Amino acid sequence: MEGFVGRFKGKLFAYENTCRHIPISLDYGDNRFFTNQGDALMCQTHGAVYEPDTGLCTRGPCAGASLFPLEVVEEDGVLWFKED
Ligand code: FES
Repeated sequence: MEGFVGRFKGKLFAYENTCRHIPISLDYGDNRFFTNQGDALMCQTHGAVYEPDTGLCTRGPCAGASLFPLEVVEEDGVLWFKED
């Protein structure tokens, strides 16, 4: 499983890198997750738009579905994914 992490309005977020429309990565391997405006996450394939802080898809073919959240902790400036 591949995930990605970022900050939005100063707050950390982390999600599994899987679109909720078709189970493929949101990016094309280029680590581009934000829209050009930087106010939302976007799937590069069909343009689904997700809220960075909640993962909710607000526009596109999977509207109403949410990205799968990952738990991340920050310790001394280092980020760690928590595994169950
Ligand atoms: S695969 Fe992401 S919107 Fe279609």
